[in-house]
Order: sequence, then structure tokens, then C-alpha cells
Amino acid sequence: MSQEIILQGVILSEVRYDISSENKSSTSEILAVEDLKKYYPVRRGVADLLRRSKKVQVKAIDGVSFTVNEGRVYGLVGESGSGKTTTGYTIMGLENPTSGTISFQGKTLSAKEHKHAGLSLKLRMIFQNPYETFDPRKTLWQTFSEILQVAGLGSRPERRQMSLDALSRAGLRPAASYIDRFPSELSGGQLQRAAIATALVVEPVLLIADEPVSMLDASIRAGVMNLLLNLNRQKKMAILLITHDLSVAWYLCDYLIVMYLGRIAEKGPAEQVLQNPRHPYTAALISASPMVDKAKWNFVAKGEVDSNIDLPKGCRFHPRCPFATDICREQEPAPEVAGDGWSYWCHHPLSVQKLKN
Ligand SMILES: Nc1ncnc2c1ncn2[C@@H]1O[C@H](COP(=O)(O)OP(=O)(O)OP(=O)(O)O)[C@@H](O)[C@H]1O
Ligand code: SF4
Ligand SMILES: [Mg+2]
Repeated sequence: MSQEIILQGVILSEVRYDISSENKSSTSEILAVEDLKKYYPVRRGVADLLRRSKKVQVKAIDGVSFTVNEGRVYGLVGESGSGKTTTGYTIMGLENPTSGTISFQGKTLSAKEHKHAGLSLKLRMIFQNPYETFDPRKTLWQTFSEILQVAGLGSRPERRQMSLDALSRAGLRPAASYIDRFPSELSGGQLQRAAIATALVVEPVLLIADEPVSMLDASIRAGVMNLLLNLNRQKKMAILLITHDLSVAWYLCDYLIVMYLGRIAEKGPAEQVLQNPRHPYTAALISASPMVDKAKWNFVAKGEVDSNIDLPKGCRFHPRCPFATDICREQEPAPEVAGDGWSYWCHHPLSVQKLKN
């Protein structure tokens, strides 16, 4: 991945992420998600429309397993509705899983432990909607002060200074003109930067960042990504980066987890997955990315994402897959190993050759 990458209009040369030899060495596992499922009941009106009497469910996540190691950046990618945000919410304890387990730093988390403040500081989330990070009745300073107090960090003046520094690093300058504002007094993009600052101020062990730059102006995106990467490199903060933008993942992530309709289609080291995807859905995502040379990558998935209420039988990608055969329509693919830490779920995996011809 040595070429210049343009992220939503910004050349990311300054954000180049060279995995150092230190980073390449193995690190310890901090999060393990095992067979996680989150089903939501469908509201009555919708169920009636679908002419079902009872037990209609949205399978937002449907058996997802992955691990996160200290200091690594993981990209959770997939189209809208694939279950990325639900996975983040469930890890954070904001949604109770239907089944499956989540272990953080070696301990399986119960619903009660999830709410424990100490844990929530080690495990933080930047929400896709930044309004979720803030209580509308509190100024930014009140929110920051509370976070720092819970973390047991600093005297009041020190907390104020730490908050100002974090806001400034997140691009809200001069920070003094923002810190005493209420959330409603900031634009969506400014509030997203303030949300990022709440993560910067406590430096969690794992940051789940849900589309952290999608609401930001092009001029500030690269800087904010740089900030997150500096935290990752200097403080060994692991990041689970949720994004539908593969150019972000291409540039920043060590590992990729590709989701489709609530399941993992492929996961593995980012460079290998992106250069030689095994799952047709991964290839379709790569092809759809603006950074890709269309002469080399021209692979289009047919149609639209199916509903995760009426899931297709067999491989759930089969209605859109040009390689689908009878077995794909009947049998869910089992996991196959493509390499070290690299798995895919497909009956007819791609090779680079198949993709380019
Ligand atoms: N509270 C809920 N009740 C019912 N269905 C839900 C709920 N939350 C999410 N869903 C459904 O679960 C599926 C996965 O949603 P999720 O928000 O996790 O997707 P996503 O991958 O984050 O999509 P996007 O890229 O649009 O943010 C969607 O079909 C969504 O409509
Ligand atoms: S299992 Fe079949 S339908 Fe599914 S992605 Fe692979 S080739 Fe396509
Ligand atoms: Mg989402």
C-alpha cells in the first residue's frame, strides 16, 4: 500500500501509516467477540405488511466472531445495514446481545459490568451520530469534567486545561470559545470533533470509532485521522474503525472485518484482503471505492442489499453475486482459511486472476 491515497478529497500523505517493526510483533488480545447475535423484534405494522403473524425479527448481527489486539487498527466495513453500528453498540453494552459473548481484557462482560464507569473509560465509542455523545443539557466542559472526574484525572483547573487541549487537538480552535457551549450551539461537524476530543482526553484501551470523519469538512478529516493514529501509535490504543469508506480502511487499518447482512464475509490482514480478496463481496466493495483503478478492478455486485428480515437462503450474498451456483443458493458457506489470521466464507473464492479478467 505505497501509493498516495486520497481520502474523501484529502491527500493523506501526512497520515501515512507505516507499520513499524514494533507494531508487527504480536500483541496481546484485549477484546474477543464470540458468535454475537443481535435480533430486534419487528414492529407489528411491519410484520402485518409482511403478512407474518408473530416472531418477525431483524437479524442486525447474526453470529459475528472476531478478536482485537492491543495497539492495532481494525476496520469494520460493509454497506449500510450490514450491522456495523449494532456490533459497536453491543460491544459497548448499549444493546444487550441476543446471544454470544464479549470478553474485554480477559473478562466476559455481563450487562452490569458494561455499565461500570471504569470500564467505559477503557472502552470508548465515538458515535456515528455525535449528538449521542453529549447530554443536551450540559456544556462541553461539564461533560469533559465528568469524564475526567470518573477517570480520577486532575484537579479542576487541570481538567479544564486537559479538556481545552483535547478540543484544540481535535480541531476546535480556539478551544476556549467552544468549551462552555451547549451541544445545540455547535454544528454537526464541530460536535463530531468534540466527540473525538472526549476519546482523546482519557486515552482508552480500545476506541470504537463509528464513521468518525464522515461529518467533517475535507480540510479537517486528514488531521483528525492523524490524531487517532498518533494515539494508536504512541499510546497503543486499539481502534475499531467502523466505516463504509474503503479508502479510509485501506489507508489506516491493520486488519479488516468485512460484514454483509449481519455476518462476516471475510476478515484478515488489511493489505492481503485488499490486494487479493477471496470473497466476491469484498471485491465489490473495493471496486466501488473511488480510489481504485477501474481498469484493474471492475467488479460490480448486482442489485441492492437484501432485507435482514427476509434473509436469502444459503449464502446471503447469492442474489447479488455473479459467481453464484446451486450450492450457494442452498448452503451457507463454512469458514475457510486463506492465510494467517485470514478467513472467508464463500463456496467459490476469488483469485486475483479471476477478478481481473
Ligand atoms: N433498534 C433497532 N430496531 C430495529 N432494527 C434495528 C435497530 N437498530 C438497527 N436495526 C437494523 O439492523 C440493521 C443493522 O443496522 P446498523 O445500524 O448496525 O447498520 P450499519 O452497518 O451501521 O449501517 P450504516 O452504514 O447505515 O450506519 C439494519 O437493518 C437496521 O435497520
Ligand atoms: S458463496 Fe457463492 S454466492 Fe456467496 S459469495 Fe461465494 S460464490 Fe458468491
Ligand atoms: Mg452505522
